[in-house]
Amino acid sequence: MNKPFGNADPALADYVSRVYAAEDDALRDIVARQQAAGMPEIQIAALDGLHLTTLARAVGARRAVEIGTLGGYSGVCLLRGMPDDGVLDTFEYEASHAEVARESFRRAGLASRARVHVGPAAEKLPSIEKDGPFDLVFIDADKQGYPGYLRWAAKNLRKGGIVLGDNAFLFGELVGGPPPPERAAVIAAMHEFHHMLATSGAFVATVLPTGEGLALGVRT
Ligand SMILES: C[S@@+](CC[C@H](N)C(=O)[O-])C[C@H]1O[C@@H](n2cnc3c(N)ncnc32)[C@H](O)[C@@H]1O
Repeated sequence: MNKPFGNADPALADYVSRVYAAEDDALRDIVARQQAAGMPEIQIAALDGLHLTTLARAVGARRAVEIGTLGGYSGVCLLRGMPDDGVLDTFEYEASHAEVARESFRRAGLASRARVHVGPAAEKLPSIEKDGPFDLVFIDADKQGYPGYLRWAAKNLRKGGIVLGDNAFLFGELVGGPPPPERAAVIAAMHEFHHMLATSGAFVATVLPTGEGLALGVRT
């Protein structure tokens, strides 16, 4: 049987969200404060947050890195999957987003375990390399930066550690006709990311067919 890749029936997502309690008051509070601050509503979906929590737990993540903090929604999800002494280094370009995220971590009782770094991630990541190797790297920032972030992950993950890349379907732009010129570089970067993840030999990898596409690689 040719099973479809993913399942777009919203009733199924509703069922899983309800039964597995994907989003609680603390996460809803983050979304509300992001809205109040006029931030874009581009945090991961509630079910993807649950994937992050569960994958962090599965890999026994004590040291995790996130690229793209926004208001701290996915960061809280990652930390929830980590043990009490687990630490997350999270990178955010916009100082105003980082401020909202710090408050999210504080309200969730996670402030001492979340280090929020402000500035372009590519410039800031080397500052934490001395604390590695890491157990988990979650990539969810500028799409053109994905190949560079993946190279960093390959260098700084422990064997058996995982890299996750959200928006791996690039909002549907990954396949299809010739890209409009203004999107060509971003689309090329996402292709480079996928080819590196799939064929470099540094990872055993797949793409989980979530709504956005969640790329997953285990460092070999
Ligand atoms: C999709 S949002 C992240 C959502 C977040 N992971 C969540 O699910 O709650 C992307 C974030 O990456 C930040 N960003 C964009 N380019 C960046 C860069 N070069 N370095 C660090 N952060 C960047 C944006 O300001 C934005 O807050």
